[in-house]
Amino acid sequence: MNKPLVFKTFAKYNAFRKNLKGTVGFVPTMGALHQGHAGLLKQSAAENDYTVLSIFVNPTQFNDPKDLEKYPRTFDADFDLAAACGVTAIFFPDHNEIYADKYQFIMTENNFSKILCGAFRPGHFNGVLSVVMKLFNMIKPTKAYFGEKDFQQLQLIENMVKAYFIPVEICRVKTLRDESGLALSSRNTRLSPPGREKAALIYKTLKSAPSAGEAKNSLNQSGFEVDYLEDIDGRRFVAAFLEGVRLIDNVTI
Ligand code: PAJ
Repeated sequence: MNKPLVFKTFAKYNAFRKNLKGTVGFVPTMGALHQGHAGLLKQSAAENDYTVLSIFVNPTQFNDPKDLEKYPRTFDADFDLAAACGVTAIFFPDHNEIYADKYQFIMTENNFSKILCGAFRPGHFNGVLSVVMKLFNMIKPTKAYFGEKDFQQLQLIENMVKAYFIPVEICRVKTLRDESGLALSSRNTRLSPPGREKAALIYKTLKSAPSAGEAKNSLNQSGFEVDYLEDIDGRRFVAAFLEGVRLIDNVTI
């Protein structure tokens, strides 16, 4: 098992990138890696000559400062998981380098980013699209891997790549779930053991309720606080709070 190289500056990464011959798979993350991330990393390692993982807790996509503060930072464990998944290099940049422009340039989408999570987290997708655009230009990947767990994010990134002719192929990766059906997420660690058991109702309800309205009522009655639960283009989307933790999921219907 080779240890990944760690690059903390764009200059050092870029010098390394210039010497690579072959395909580069890229997995952008905010760290606190779990088996869901591992799925993306392993797929990239299987399909490319090199795999680059980025770890950057992106402040511009957090609309709640407390959520940003509480975001788990676990670099040593992330490094070990990356090594086990065949990652070649980890890009672990500094906030000042990524946002040298002080966020004066903002990537905005004016349609799909305004509904679902966008309606409840103003500015969230501006932050996501801006940082992903920067990371694509820095990493220069052949392919980039995104999870269907964050389906709205995935689709917005696919559309941004098309709109701006960015030379990268976006690869979709299915949502990884635990045995109970709960979608793996770094936020799950903030739930109590009974909360974690209850959170499995999200997936079960999405799959079994005859309509979005009934699914929403059922989750609210079970003690969730539902932000939205909607059917759009053959997919059912939900965001709901449990024990103060915001959980999202989606399934095909
Ligand atoms: P993060 O939440 O760390 O997720 C990184 C990637 O892992 C995303 O593409 C996400 O969809 C995927 N992922 C997370 N949990 C998953 C699961 N259970 N199954 C499959 N894939 C899963 O998403 C972000 O970071 C950020 O918004 C980012 C794109 C890095 C921009 O800052």
